[in-house]
Amino acid sequence: MGIKHIPEELKENIKKISFDIKDDVINWRRHIHMYPELSGQEQKTAKFVAQKLREIGVDEVIENFGGTTAVVGLIKGKHDITVALRADMDALPMIEKIDVPYRSRHEGVMHSCGHDAHTAILLGAAKVLVQMKNHLMGNVKLIFQPCEERHDCDGAKKLIEAGVLENPEVSAIFGIHMFPELPAGKVGTKPGHFMASSDIFRVVIKGKGSHASRPHLGVDPVVIAAQTITSLHHIVSRKVDPLHPAVLTVGKIEGGYAENIIPDEVKFSGTVRTLSLELRDEIPKWMEHTIWGITLAYGGAYKFEYEHGTPPVINDEKTTKFALGMMRDLLGEENVVELENPSMGGEDFGEYLLKVPGTFIRLGIRNEEKGITAPLHSPVFDIDEDALPIGVAVMSYLAFKWVEEHS
Ligand code: NI
Repeated sequence: MGIKHIPEELKENIKKISFDIKDDVINWRRHIHMYPELSGQEQKTAKFVAQKLREIGVDEVIENFGGTTAVVGLIKGKHDITVALRADMDALPMIEKIDVPYRSRHEGVMHSCGHDAHTAILLGAAKVLVQMKNHLMGNVKLIFQPCEERHDCDGAKKLIEAGVLENPEVSAIFGIHMFPELPAGKVGTKPGHFMASSDIFRVVIKGKGSHASRPHLGVDPVVIAAQTITSLHHIVSRKVDPLHPAVLTVGKIEGGYAENIIPDEVKFSGTVRTLSLELRDEIPKWMEHTIWGITLAYGGAYKFEYEHGTPPVINDEKTTKFALGMMRDLLGEENVVELENPSMGGEDFGEYLLKVPGTFIRLGIRNEEKGITAPLHSPVFDIDEDALPIGVAVMSYLAFKWVEEHS
């Protein structure tokens, strides 16, 4: 082919193709946006993705990977080194409140976290990489994942258990997410702690019901629950190192029948977020000590359930240094932000990072002039589609250069 192995030329070519296919990527994004599907039900989206991957000419396309709705593609390069790129496909149960031509046609379901765009960007990257295949030094695995938004259907975890990071073995993984805090045209990431773990707990405090006027004859679970909830909040302020962020929130409480009855039980539940794996292990132990101690003091009993959701997203130092360098090279120093702070939001991309080194990247999509400023998960969330080719170029370039440098 006409292209020689001059890095500058390859880079410009990746950029050019990414912008040449902008309309395709926008159309794919809008199609997926119009027909959003909830976590675990991404059948039509998956069919669409598989069909596009075949049209694009990806070497292998596996549908229903691991018995889920995941689609996994493989573009084969010259050498035996493999990098993975990941997108998520699911939408959220909410009513879209903006009037755009590509508004959701599935009432009550909306792509308000931008997973439609992640999917379209990864399809775009597939198209770029297939066109650059003669120069591709290794394999690129394309992971279209279901179930990112819900704890109970384990999107990333199920795929990992089904061997998505093996055969061929993945040496690094990159993912990208819409980020309304950054203007369109910019990208950002940081090494190390990036996003929080997201776990759930449920507590039942058991007492002994009695008449409200004779509390000494019962064991009041309302008082025990009140003391316990107050004390649980002291875990973050008194037990956790102030330099290590953590959140413990009790979001729900229920119990009781009437003003003049001491009930027999009170239930409450909440979430715990941490940036480190160590703290994630410690907090449930401190919680149980607290619940046990207070319940014992009042003569009640308890049930404590702690459910692990997604682990923290911890960006690998090496892949992140590589990604920041490559993105500066591709987009210019001024368009790449090394983010200062992690976020306490959760993302199951962290599951992959427990197994292979990788980096999660934030793509700027904000545009004040176009009125695009809504946060993720908002009913009026939208993106500046001018950011899509930038996402495509970043994902393609990172994959292309990773296998080139490690083959
Ligand atoms: Ni998301």
